[in-house]
Amino acid sequence: MMRHSDILTIGELAARTGVPVSALRYYEQRGLIRSLRSAGKHRRFLRSDIRRVSFVRIAQSLGLSIEDVLGALARLPDARTPTAADWRRISTDIAALIDARIAELTRTRDRLDGCIGCGCLSLKHCALYNPDDRMGALGPGPRLVMEV
Ligand code: FES
Repeated sequence: MMRHSDILTIGELAARTGVPVSALRYYEQRGLIRSLRSAGKHRRFLRSDIRRVSFVRIAQSLGLSIEDVLGALARLPDARTPTAADWRRISTDIAALIDARIAELTRTRDRLDGCIGCGCLSLKHCALYNPDDRMGALGPGPRLVMEV
């Protein structure tokens, strides 16, 4: 049986998570959270959505994409409050994504290491040197620095 205190307004969810109401609406629009509707058609959220929103915030702060977060959250049950085992399962998925992100950031840092504040674009040793935009033929994006 659900208690009244288990149901939050969007303002209460915003206050508790530190995520603005507009962002919560966006999360809902993207399918990251789902609201219930009150008799007056106002959005209502389960208290367990605090953890869900917090998970989204953490994942975003780590640079994970909305798609990555959606993929992980898709493994949580819709019809009931997620259990510790449910969260453990998706934390394993997210750990792999975090490892991949760390590897990408480390690679990017290493490639940019000598260039930050330099600007020389040295023919001999600059990782950003791209004569005649040869990298453009390989496709869009910062290909010398990031795996795109
Ligand atoms: S800009 Fe100087 S080494 Fe890349």
